[in-house]
Amino acid sequence: MDSVRLAVFSILISGSWCSVTKDLKFPEWFKFGAATAAYQVEGGWNSSDKGENTWDRLFHSNPEFSSQDNGDVACDSYHLWRRDIEMAEELGLDIYRFSLSWARLLPNGFANKISEDGKRYYNNLIDGLLEKGIEPVVTLYHFDLPQILQDLGGWANPLISDWFADYARVAFTLFGDRVKTWLTINEPLGFCDTGYSKQQAPYIDGEVIAKYLCNKYTLISHAKAWRIYDEEFRPRYHGKVSLATIFNWYEPATPEDKEITDLMREYWEGRFAYPIFSKEGGWPPTLEKFMADKSKQEGYSRSRLPPLTAEEIELIRGTYDFYGLNHYLSRRIRKARPGEKIGTWPLYGSDEINIQMESDPSWETTGLDWFPINPAGLRKQLHWLNQTYGVNEVMITENGYLDLDKHLDDTARIKYMRDYLEQIQLAIADGINVTAYMAWSLMDNLEWLGGYGASFGLYQVDFTDDNRTRTPRESARYYSRVTRTRSLHHDHEGLNYV
Ligand code: BGC
Repeated sequence: MDSVRLAVFSILISGSWCSVTKDLKFPEWFKFGAATAAYQVEGGWNSSDKGENTWDRLFHSNPEFSSQDNGDVACDSYHLWRRDIEMAEELGLDIYRFSLSWARLLPNGFANKISEDGKRYYNNLIDGLLEKGIEPVVTLYHFDLPQILQDLGGWANPLISDWFADYARVAFTLFGDRVKTWLTINEPLGFCDTGYSKQQAPYIDGEVIAKYLCNKYTLISHAKAWRIYDEEFRPRYHGKVSLATIFNWYEPATPEDKEITDLMREYWEGRFAYPIFSKEGGWPPTLEKFMADKSKQEGYSRSRLPPLTAEEIELIRGTYDFYGLNHYLSRRIRKARPGEKIGTWPLYGSDEINIQMESDPSWETTGLDWFPINPAGLRKQLHWLNQTYGVNEVMITENGYLDLDKHLDDTARIKYMRDYLEQIQLAIADGINVTAYMAWSLMDNLEWLGGYGASFGLYQVDFTDDNRTRTPRESARYYSRVTRTRSLHHDHEGLNYV
């Protein structure tokens, strides 16, 4: 038994999920990264021939959202991409995850017109990263739909899967020779459930129906893009494609809440992942029945969870090369009490499945009641994924600490990163093939409707400065030592994270 396995073995026999181990080293093949998304950092909202997207429209047409806090300039990465690469290099990253703006590359949403400037921008970024030995990880879609497609029904229109497939083919054709890791869609829950409950663009009140149409057509869009890569590009480029799913750790508040927690997992993650990652494909069976019964009780003539035909099940099933996991926090789940006011989905509870989400008093907090910190939850989550789907490889595509105080001395973020990374080391030692970690985020950026008030960045960005000056936080210094030493437990310039 090597030293890593020995350390973990002793933890397992002591029965603890959260013991601190010393001297574990990340394997050489493990990749450290950081992530951003186009609308949150690029700015240049109307530079050159870029088309309008749903976030441009939402911010510009709703006076209730502060005019300062939109993505018109954001971190200005459209102009400052060289500095972004420099930061990735300073951090010692192996990989950098960013997303393409669909409306920047295809100004009118369709593949008949490709923007020369859009193409140049992404080529510069990709080539600049590669020159520094940093691999690009590219997300095709991170919440910013061309408005023209939204006007045609967006993700609730079945035709979107063809529009998305065309867009994916353009991106694979233009960049596939250099980009070897692709994420088709970031967090469908993050725009289907919230976009149709007026929490995110397209900011529509879609009752319960729209989010499930969006749910189904994101799955089909993802599957078509994966198959295009598999058939037309993989033989030449040998890359990997998956999607990024948000999946925090959910555990029952009491033993009686186990069943409802299982349903909650199907409701949160299974709707977006089970059809792709499970052996049998299709909707998660318990949820499918639950939604059919509930729809009937409420007088609908068909289930709100639209059926998947046998052909669709086969189209979607197995369309992955790894599991892309966005993971931030843990929650306890319990059945709502009769008459109790249920918190808003997806942060506090769900009326639809009658649950409340809570924190465990033993978990630390970021200061936000919906964001408790429980690093051991990540390792449990990885075990759950392994047992449920038996996935071959997991990449942590996002994980990060939300700070309301935007100071440079972010000791709490360092502790968060150290503790979550440690759980990844332990999971690797348990035999789970976790191959990458992408910190959210490289720098402070537009937190969607939350604006610029909170920070996730390893680099602080001064949004009052026209130059959008980026300054490394203590966490950036810490992470750069982690990437270089491949170890967590060193004395960080007196901060003593040993
Ligand atoms: C999203 C990011 C977002 C982050 C922090 C993730 O769910 O992919 O766009 O900024 O969470 O809220």
